[in-house]
Amino acid sequence: MSDAELLDLHGEEWSLVLERGERAVPVWRHLGVRVDPGALPKLGELRGAATFSLEGDHAMDAFPVAGLGWFGPSILAVRGADGQALRVHFDGCDADSSEGSLRVVATDSVNDIECETRFRVVPGGGLEVSASLTNRSDRLIIVDRLASAMFPLGASSREIISWRGRHNAEFVECREPMPEHSWVRETRRGLTGHGGPCGAYVLSEDTGWHSGLAIAMQLAWSGDARLAIERDDEGFWIAMAETVIAPGEVTLAPGECYHAPPLLLAISTKGRNGAMAQMHGALRERIVWPRGGIRPRPVHLNSWEAVYFSHDEARIGELAEAAAAIGIERFILDDGWFRARDHDRAGLGDWEADPRKYPQGLKPLADKVRRLGMEFGLWVEPEMVNPDSDLYRAHPDWVLALEGRERPTARNQLVLDMRREDVRDYLFGKLDQLLSTVDIAYLKWDHNRDHAPSGGAAQTRGTYALLERLRTAHPKVEIESCAGGGGRIDAGIASYTHRFWTSDNIDAVARVPMQRGFLAFMPPEVMGAHVGASPSHATGRTQSLDFRAAIACQGHLGVELDPAAMEEGVRAKLADWLGFWKEWRHVIIGGRTVLGEAADGLVWQAQGTDDELLLWLIRSDHGADRRARPVLLPFAEDREWDVQFLRHAGQSGVLTPRAAPAIAAMREKPHRFSGDWLAHAGLPVPALAAESALIYHLRAVS
Ligand code: GLA
Repeated sequence: MSDAELLDLHGEEWSLVLERGERAVPVWRHLGVRVDPGALPKLGELRGAATFSLEGDHAMDAFPVAGLGWFGPSILAVRGADGQALRVHFDGCDADSSEGSLRVVATDSVNDIECETRFRVVPGGGLEVSASLTNRSDRLIIVDRLASAMFPLGASSREIISWRGRHNAEFVECREPMPEHSWVRETRRGLTGHGGPCGAYVLSEDTGWHSGLAIAMQLAWSGDARLAIERDDEGFWIAMAETVIAPGEVTLAPGECYHAPPLLLAISTKGRNGAMAQMHGALRERIVWPRGGIRPRPVHLNSWEAVYFSHDEARIGELAEAAAAIGIERFILDDGWFRARDHDRAGLGDWEADPRKYPQGLKPLADKVRRLGMEFGLWVEPEMVNPDSDLYRAHPDWVLALEGRERPTARNQLVLDMRREDVRDYLFGKLDQLLSTVDIAYLKWDHNRDHAPSGGAAQTRGTYALLERLRTAHPKVEIESCAGGGGRIDAGIASYTHRFWTSDNIDAVARVPMQRGFLAFMPPEVMGAHVGASPSHATGRTQSLDFRAAIACQGHLGVELDPAAMEEGVRAKLADWLGFWKEWRHVIIGGRTVLGEAADGLVWQAQGTDDELLLWLIRSDHGADRRARPVLLPFAEDREWDVQFLRHAGQSGVLTPRAAPAIAAMREKPHRFSGDWLAHAGLPVPALAAESALIYHLRAVS
């Protein structure tokens, strides 16, 4: 341990302070708003003895472990090779810090283990916390748990925002008060799940979208995970995040080290939007773009809802021509292209083009797509196998299964055992062959079922290893993470992927809250958002092309229908929207996202840079007010703005109220507003019908 009494690390908006006390391990003094740590009274001087308590004080330290006076949750649980729990007690601690990072290492001299936590300020101003455990002894140890992070939440904490979901209903927002006992969000299906990553936002008293203390967290992990917030019996809360480790799954031989996946933390006094901005920064650091940087996101056409399993080369060739004609830049051939894949009951595992559908393989189609000026992308579902496949017939032992037990299928498929090197080698071989012989710029990597039985954390690590190997061998190929829509959206897989398929539900009304939930954890440039058919295949609801397109324009735009099947006028409108998105994509995914709510059920969303943004005002359902109340835009404060009205995306056939002349004039030429006016009096807007949106352009002039 260094001589310093305080160990501290600061982001622009927050401070982390650990304090050295009487014991070996430093105690938590503060994690929250930015403070001058030197000005804080020492914790030891603030805590008098409580009745019915041990004599020595046991405040929460950096590596809390139950045993000698700490009665809260433990950061780890380990056993010896004989299965007996090791009674861990950290009696030594060292720390070092460098610009933007702090490392604390605690040692247990009796059990000879070492636990390390590293705090690092990440681009965007957030914090990454990583933990590892090293076995320094000369015998094997079994790790039952190691929290990625465990930290106190301040006294002002009021509410937990989290998300749940299912296939076709991702990111359903949940709001709950801070618990009297404990709050737990645990996933056990083997993958991230449709409720989004293992993460949550903790809001303080009076925190809203734009101001107040918000703490956001997200575990960088795509498997079973647990996030818990427990009320200590002293009255404060402890947050912890961890992967779920199956009993006996992680063992450490002498000298070996186990790394828990990092927890990303965002701590902001600028409300949910402030924490979201930090979260986006942390994600942007993890995404590895081919050729060293993000390039303009190409507009997609995905074949799935256009043709489902009905593939033949001529039909798909026509679809590609129709796509190119409306301005599509990347054509993705979805499920249905490989051997025996006429339905979802056969073929997974046999990753070769079906000669009945593509007699010369995929190369002629890919070349045609290239000639049409588009990139070619391909759907795969590598971790899966249908029992009706050559792969399964040859290797029935390659799936997650329990000896002598039934093998439950879902969508007629089983899960390959990604812990096995031979399985990973086979899949690498198949994918490498495709990527080496066909001009494929993009893989849509799907995963369409839960794991039963579980493959544990090693299954997730096996998938990461395969992705890593492919990325290394084919660094120019971008990958989309899909799992029955948005079942695998998280910062763990973000290190290997470049887009997420947000949901199989493309209904624009359903997408409004879903995309806002997505943005709580991920930046807009990786949010797959498509214009789908009407009626929507997922909900049966009918929406105007304009409204569908306006909502899809918030993310990485795509189209999921057959343009040739549209009426000429509607197709022209779609092409016009694609052109609109291309014109503004550099702004839309330019960095900054701000979410807000206005009166009477209107929601808004601004995306852009500090100086230039597009603003969506969205009305999903009809309002009750006769006239719309102005929309307050707190982010606009302190600057002057030119505001121009770009697009009205309404319901066709629905009477649109006539806008007041000044509002209508903003279509022709921008209107200059002071930031104070926009923030406190509000942007005047016309009343909107249900299922409509307005898009504005805002440019700062001072
Ligand atoms: C999943 C995906 C869809 C599509 C189908 C193909 O459901 O989410 O987008 O790729 O699989 O089977």
